[in-house]
Amino acid sequence: MQQFAQNLGPVSAVIGAQWGDEGKGKVIDILAEYFDVIARASGGANAGHTIVVNGKKHVFHLLPAGSLRAGKPVVLGAAMVIHLPTLLEEIKMLGDAGINIVPQLHIAPAAHIVFDYHNEIDAALEKQRVEERGQGIGTTKRGIGPAYMDKAARSGLRMESLQWSDDVLQKEIALRVKEASSLYGISGDAKAEWSNVKQAKDLLKDRVARNTAALMHSFLKGKQTILIEGAQATLLDLDHGTYPYVTSSNTTAAGALQGLGLPPRTLTSCIGVAKSYCTRVGSGTFLTEADEASQQRLRDRGGEFGATTGRPRRCGWMHIPDLKYAAMINGFDCWNITKLDVLDTEEEIFVGVGENADGKVLYERLPGWKSSTEGVRSSEKLPLNAQNFIQFIEKNTGIPVRLIGTGQAREDMILRSS
Ligand code: GDP
Ligand code: IMO
Ligand code: MG
Repeated sequence: MQQFAQNLGPVSAVIGAQWGDEGKGKVIDILAEYFDVIARASGGANAGHTIVVNGKKHVFHLLPAGSLRAGKPVVLGAAMVIHLPTLLEEIKMLGDAGINIVPQLHIAPAAHIVFDYHNEIDAALEKQRVEERGQGIGTTKRGIGPAYMDKAARSGLRMESLQWSDDVLQKEIALRVKEASSLYGISGDAKAEWSNVKQAKDLLKDRVARNTAALMHSFLKGKQTILIEGAQATLLDLDHGTYPYVTSSNTTAAGALQGLGLPPRTLTSCIGVAKSYCTRVGSGTFLTEADEASQQRLRDRGGEFGATTGRPRRCGWMHIPDLKYAAMINGFDCWNITKLDVLDTEEEIFVGVGENADGKVLYERLPGWKSSTEGVRSSEKLPLNAQNFIQFIEKNTGIPVRLIGTGQAREDMILRSS
């Protein structure tokens, strides 16, 4: 793995190819061992990245999963929207695991703060969509859209405000809560918002002092290697995803570089992460969504319930045109195909390969392997039909599969030679 990581070059990004929850956190946790700096660029606590180390589960929403590799600088980029109580909880969770992340943490002063009133607006907008149109976006209700609305309207509060005086900051918060209440009819609670911010300010005031773009460049100059953890995924991208059923940030490799202030040409590699099947939480098109019985099987075997909201994820099959699209947008060098073991009991593996003239999905039906791949650590030890499935993905996307997930644990990852 060390050699593989080294070959990724000094700046590598891990980006989801589907609608999120592909298993980005797990590969980041593995690769982080071999990188000097770990960064997250965009999105907020709508993300949920679960990793399992020594049988213990850790769920990250804002900090990158690589934070568990103690002692490395961790950067939260300018395109992020940060809910402070959630960040404090995560810092505490790491503290309980024996890691004091605070001295290592660098938060972009330009990242925006997500307030509880943003969550309230998120819920109110969703309610209205359901009432007026019969269907919402199915957001995580983490205030993401409204926080980016404030950012685009240039009325948001940014992390740099943690350096302001208590008086000024408290006043600015109260003004915003008042505005939000009159615009959206939400109740809002300026006192509670201030109390949350004050707590964060006491702990993190010094962690928002440095321009993180300049910091990233100083890392580059010092020949330190940087691993970027993508959040959400390509088909949820605001510009290139399945709009309007997307998130409000840029989830691609380009979006990650933008969020961190890194020039496009500094990226030396990009790993695309795709599940062996496919899931989606929330509304919107899902061409390869499976029949009820197959969904149930995949959901049960894959534990497909949202890490952030607990919602059951919609389940279906891998869709080659989507993978090719994601590879095109991001410039993937290789795939990490995850959760192969979830397909162990399938008679047949369906893979969407295109559409007919009526827009009906055409499937390739590959024979299943009907034996356990859980915990398999080398590609040659995979059943022949599983090897064929991997080769099928490679051949049809034109991109090599270098990593294959065979279980939840950190060790359950095959490194496949090119
Ligand atoms: P992320 O948002 O892309 O980081 O993915 P999530 O963490 O939301 O969802 C992936 C889930 O699958 C997590 O519960 C992981 O522990 C689990 N997982 C990741 N890779 C594998 C794998 O190869 N096999 C199995 N069975 N589970 C995996
Ligand atoms: P990770 O990083 C899966 C989805 C929501 C909803 C849409 C908009 O764990 O892969 P939002 O709250 O962002 O306004 O919701 O985007 N969504 C995700 N789905 N994984 C995620 O993150 C997601 N982040 C947002 O379910 O459909
Ligand atoms: Mg997730």
